[in-house]
This record gives sequence, structure tokens and C-alpha cells, in this order.
Amino acid sequence: MKSPYIFVMILLCVCSTHADLGLESSGVVINERQFECLYNKYGFDNLMTSVYDPAGFVDETGITNINNAIDGLGDGLKFRTVSMTPCLANCQNNLTSGVDQANAVINRLNKADIVGMIYVKIDKSQPWSSNQQQNQKFIIDILSTILLVLDSTGGNYTYYPGIITNYNSWSSVVGAKFTEASYLASSLWWVNWNGKQDLTTGFTPFGGWSQPMVHQYAGNIINNDCATGINFNYFYTSSDNFLANKNIKKRKKEHYATKTHQKQ
Ligand SMILES: *[C@@H]1O[C@H](CO)[C@@H](O)[C@H](O)[C@H]1NC(C)=O
Ligand SMILES: *[C@@H]1O[C@H](CO)[C@@H](O)[C@H](O)[C@H]1NC(C)=O
Repeated sequence: MKSPYIFVMILLCVCSTHADLGLESSGVVINERQFECLYNKYGFDNLMTSVYDPAGFVDETGITNINNAIDGLGDGLKFRTVSMTPCLANCQNNLTSGVDQANAVINRLNKADIVGMIYVKIDKSQPWSSNQQQNQKFIIDILSTILLVLDSTGGNYTYYPGIITNYNSWSSVVGAKFTEASYLASSLWWVNWNGKQDLTTGFTPFGGWSQPMVHQYAGNIINNDCATGINFNYFYTSSDNFLANKNIKKRKKEHYATKTHQKQ
């Protein structure tokens, strides 16, 4: 099976596609073998999973999936991150404040010995208040809670916040001129499903971000290739060095899978 021919074909495939993958919380667990299948098929370098559901609970599927991806692909994945969509109404776990929700995510990630970047999704389709000041405070509370972990755990755990949004959502939820969040979350994950794999086409600075770190250029793609009913989004980033510093990873060196990806 391991003929040089097949090996070269897989390499070509990996090099010619840059379909970096985000997984929405769709309740689908992807095991290590399925991650390897997706990796072979799409050659993605980067992965994001969603770990907090806007219905108000830590999404265990997202935790399991990021763990499985780390264990299954190891250093084959350059950049791994998680996202949270805050709950704004009727939260199942009764956690209504930004601080409490951020802590719920952090405590769960600590328990899984995962550290790194947490992107907070600000989407105007969620039931945000019409009071922009109230929304601003809620978001700042989440971002500061994420940043404070370094101090509150004596440096044992470190997280960095980022923001997932676009102009329409940001201007509707907090106002386009609201820049305080960008001081705490310098990394903008820009959502614009224009299919362009770049950081510039159609981007106009807003909210204090002069350019995005990541561009989600397609989304809500249901994929049945390697596991049934995975909800994908695709993203592009060119800032591998910056991102590598803030990679989601297993905290303890000995737990950290160094396994490089196995070709079939
Ligand atoms: C949330 O609050 C409701 C009403 O007080 C209670 O019935 C429910 O058990 C609480 N849920 C959790 C997860 O604590
Ligand atoms: C940090 O980790 C060390 C070693 O495991 C532990 O002794 C210490 O109590 C931890 N500090 C905090 C604040 O959790």
C-alpha cells in the first residue's frame, strides 16, 4: 500500500489545497480515524471547533473533537483553536453573565488540559440586547475573564481571546466605532462568505481592527465524506507564526501528541 506513487499523490493534494476547517457544533463526534480521513481528503492545516453553545452549555462534542484532532493528527495540524458563542437568553445552565460563561469554558478547557486561543463569536442573529452599551460590557467581561486566567492560575494556564464577527454584526451589536474589544482581542476572525481565500477582498476596517487575522470565506457546508452530518466552515489565514504562539494545545508536554500524520 505504501507505494511512493501514492505518497507523492497525497503530498500534491496536501500542497495544492488550503481548506482550513472550522467545525460548527452539530453534535457530531469525529474520531481520530475520521480526522485522518478528513486530513487526507482536504489537506487542512488548521482546525477550529466550537465549545460553547448559545443555548447555554459547554459543548462536549467540541471538546471531544479538539482532543481527537490533537491526538489523531498531532503536529499535522498547524493551528488549532476553539470558539464560543455566548448565551444571551434562556441559558440552559443558568449562566447569564459574560464572566460566568467565560469561566465555564475556561474551567472545562483546564480540565481537559487544553490551553490557547478562544474566539468569541459575535453574530447579530443571536438575541442581543438593543442596548449597545450593555452588549459592549458583556463582551468586555468575557474577553477580560479570558485574559485574567494567566494571573488567577499563577501562570499555569494561559488563554488569549479573539473575536469572530463581521461589519454587519459588529455594528449592529456594539456599534462599528466600538474599539475597546480590539485592544483585548487583537485577532479578528472575519466572516465573509465571498469564497476568496485572502484577508483583503471586501474588507473595510471596523471596530479597531485594521485587518483580519483569519478570514472565514465559506460556511454552513454539510459534509458527509468521512463522518455523517459535519457542519463545516472554511477559513484562510496567512499568519502562521503569530497563530502558532497561541495554538490550542495539551498543556502537559508528555500529553502532547507529537505523532505526525500517518499516510495510509
Ligand atoms: C436553572 O434554573 C431553573 C429554575 O430555577 C432550575 O429548575 C434548573 O434546574 C437550573 N438548571 C441548572 C443547570 O442549574
Ligand atoms: C500551578 O501548578 C503547580 C504545579 O502543578 C501547583 O503546585 C500550583 O498550585 C498551581 N498554581 C495555581 C495557582 O493553581
